[in-house]
Amino acid sequence: MHPKKIFEGVYDVDGKIATLNSTPGKRAYSEELKIADHKEYRLWNPYRSKLSAAISIGLRNFHFKNDNKVIYIGAATGTTASHISDIVINGRIYCIEMSERNMRELVKVCELRPNMLPILADASEPNSYSDYIETCDVLYQDASAREQAKILLSNSKFLKKGGYAYFVIKSQSIDISKKPKEVFEAELKTLENDFEVIERMGLEPYDRMHLFSVLKKK
Ligand SMILES: C[S@@+](CC[C@H](N)C(=O)[O-])C[C@H]1O[C@@H](n2cnc3c(N)ncnc32)[C@H](O)[C@@H]1O
Repeated sequence: MHPKKIFEGVYDVDGKIATLNSTPGKRAYSEELKIADHKEYRLWNPYRSKLSAAISIGLRNFHFKNDNKVIYIGAATGTTASHISDIVINGRIYCIEMSERNMRELVKVCELRPNMLPILADASEPNSYSDYIETCDVLYQDASAREQAKILLSNSKFLKKGGYAYFVIKSQSIDISKKPKEVFEAELKTLENDFEVIERMGLEPYDRMHLFSVLKKK
């Protein structure tokens, strides 16, 4: 079977979402590798990555391009970031992560993938890394922090005007006593002066705790 293109750099390989492996023969985590049409693909498990879950469910907006600069907040051990690295193959991803433990794993992935740059920092203090980051086309945030919208706003200075933010909101990290829907609405409201919400979706059946949103910077 021939892989079918879903978005730039994203393919359907035998019914599964995948990216073209920019480091053939090497894995970034425990993902499955698959050869199709003499090329090696990395299967992108929607249970392990919210971006893959959103694509599986039918995400309409996908703005990652081959030469894009991306700031990724909450890169963890690099699971999703490694697939974005396959997509923005001539671009760069600035991976912000505050956990030293996750950073140790992330650095190993970045050593294999020269377009991924690890930055150990708290994203609520963007001035601590502003010297290392250029203006980005896309911002991706999946950080299990208390003030997620506030973190996004303070990092939006790295995003170009008209650029896109992929904002994953985890209600449980914000306020466990409130209904998730209330938390999602309040977070998006905080952003309304600076961003237009162009798409939003739940991630069931892959994940029940998050809202996945796509925003455009005004
Ligand atoms: C759910 S994980 C991210 C998973 C990752 N996005 C993926 O799909 O591969 C959330 C991450 O956000 C990080 N995080 C939480 N608050 C942060 C902050 N203020 N600055 C930087 N990283 C933060 C956590 O350490 C954790 O690794």
